[in-house]
Amino acid sequence: MKKKRILVTGGSGFFGYELAKLLSKKNRVTVIDNNLRGNFKKFEKLRNIELMDCDIRNMEKLNKLKKFDDVYHLAFINGTENFYNHPKAVLEVGIKGILNIIEFVKKKKVKNFIMFSSSEVYGSPNIIPTSEKEIIKIEDIFNPRFSYSAGKIISESVTINYLRGTGIKYKIIRPHNIFGENMGLKHVIPQVMYKIFKASEKFKLKKVKIKIQGNGNETRAFCYINDAVKQTIFISEKIKENGIFNVGFSKETKIKELIKKIEKILNMKIVVQQGKIKDGGTLRRCPSQKKVSRYKKFKNNFESGLKKTIYWYKNFYLEDNINNNELYK
Ligand SMILES: NC(=O)c1ccc[n+]([C@@H]2O[C@H](COP(=O)([O-])OP(=O)(O)OC[C@H]3O[C@@H](n4cnc5c(N)ncnc54)[C@H](O)[C@@H]3O)[C@@H](O)[C@H]2O)c1
Repeated sequence: MKKKRILVTGGSGFFGYELAKLLSKKNRVTVIDNNLRGNFKKFEKLRNIELMDCDIRNMEKLNKLKKFDDVYHLAFINGTENFYNHPKAVLEVGIKGILNIIEFVKKKKVKNFIMFSSSEVYGSPNIIPTSEKEIIKIEDIFNPRFSYSAGKIISESVTINYLRGTGIKYKIIRPHNIFGENMGLKHVIPQVMYKIFKASEKFKLKKVKIKIQGNGNETRAFCYINDAVKQTIFISEKIKENGIFNVGFSKETKIKELIKKIEKILNMKIVVQQGKIKDGGTLRRCPSQKKVSRYKKFKNNFESGLKKTIYWYKNFYLEDNINNNELYK
């Protein structure tokens, strides 16, 4: 079978790297990224992937790219803290980015477009587990956090309306709390790990007290990166209908349960002190998997994935990599 040509935007980021790696086993993959959060160093051992430094806001540069069968569009400014601190940049990359990428997709007659949206578009959903039919919304336009979901909602609308009648197939992916090794520093697991690292004096003390956001009863439905990549490729390649698809698992974990699991993995005692939850922070989010499971049921590797991730971050902080904590990372 002839190999497909695939473009992954934002491909040096957390999800993009793992996606490009798996896609490159059967296809010819090109990754573009401006390395705001990602980096090309990760690809040192993957010589079969073509890498290009390219900002998706730069249409001239995009025009120089060749033709592709499939485009996975992941480039976006991710990381909750970034939504609060850099809302303008989040919107600019989101909006200019999707308009440019859609123009590119149409000009180059791409066959399949896979746009990465987010569970954030549900805000605080009315129904849990939340199906793809749930109302999407911006709960407080004045809160900078919602720059991210605003950018994603616009990106979904552009995808649907600009590709209507073109014959180009599209899938909109809404990932829910994907975690794994090397996911950046601005998510729950790396932040909890950093607090433990500091409080335990580099994991020397066996009993620590850490402050968390909220009371610990908030939930997330975590999904290990390898599982998320498999679900995404399945949706892209095996499902014929255009549409919107949750990616993740319907199993909710309370933050305090997550910390208990980390405690066990690290063989430590972790006492949790409640803190204030950030404005716009979500109490509960969990995807319904009904739509995708009509086609296939996926195994959930949360426990083994968590173990790998915890050990990875322990080593990462011990090796003093925290100095690389740049503005957007
Ligand atoms: N990780 C999750 O749990 C999760 C959840 C929901 C949605 N998503 C979405 O999935 C996609 C990938 O997420 P991730 O966790 O890998 O985030 P990430 O930040 O690791 O990856 C995004 C990549 O986009 C790149 N980028 C940013 N601005 C760019 C620009 N102007 N031009 C080119 N590249 C640019 C960054 O450098 C980074 O490598 C994103 O669209 C994100 O919004 C992720």
